Amino acid sequence: MMIMAFDPDDCIFENAEALSRAAADWLCEKAVASSGRFSICCSGGSTPRRLYELLAQSPAVTAFPWSRVHWFWGDERFVPYDHPESNYGMTRTVLLSKVPIPAGNVHPVPTEGLTLQQGADAYEKTLRDYYGAENLDAVRPLFDVTLLGIGDDGHTASLLPGQPALEETRRWVTAVPSGRSEPRITLTYCALDSSCDAVFLAVGGRKRCVVRRARRGDRTLPAGRVKPVGRLHWFVDRDAGWAIDAGPRSQA
Ligand code: 6PG
Repeated sequence: MMIMAFDPDDCIFENAEALSRAAADWLCEKAVASSGRFSICCSGGSTPRRLYELLAQSPAVTAFPWSRVHWFWGDERFVPYDHPESNYGMTRTVLLSKVPIPAGNVHPVPTEGLTLQQGADAYEKTLRDYYGAENLDAVRPLFDVTLLGIGDDGHTASLLPGQPALEETRRWVTAVPSGRSEPRITLTYCALDSSCDAVFLAVGGRKRCVVRRARRGDRTLPAGRVKPVGRLHWFVDRDAGWAIDAGPRSQA
């Protein structure tokens, strides 16, 4: 159940389950309403897990246009796919293994049998080959929907505070060798912003402060610097949500 929305893009939900159900319905409606290829850039972390589970259940499982949807990841931990920390591994377990997705539509970040940099380079090629042009054009975004989480330090994907990846303006994918317990590969703002719809999903009181700051465009937070060429949405639960008097987000 949605509690309120300050504008058509942002919604506060009673709890995580209500948020996940609404997000699954919203994503399914977007995919069904589209024509041709539909590309989803998945978020890692724990928040989207329930959303992915719901896509594998009725009604989404029968309505979703599985054959023409392509799946990508906004970042990945540099671990094997069967490692408990693997973002792709989680999505494969709860969703991809349960629905009729053509194997060629699933584009995980490569993390085995190559170096971290080779993995980043390979995923950059994957994205460029899929897009089919050297430069991203705002009128033809790379992704239809980009799902994003936010850490309590304001990071998103594996764009971590103070890291060089935040300043990358040419590459679409970069290696993140330090800053977390395992090395990461992350999409840069170039790629993440090339989205028709970018959706932050946030749950829990520990996210409240960074959600409020990032939603207002606080550029000291990596999440505050996400500026999709399309629309930016915040789907949060009551605990992570902004105060009722917070008013609309900045338009910066
Ligand atoms: C990752 C994610 C990361 C995540 C946030 C929130 O690989 O960890 O991409 O950006 O979305 O850390 O994680 P939770 O959803 O677990 O709070």
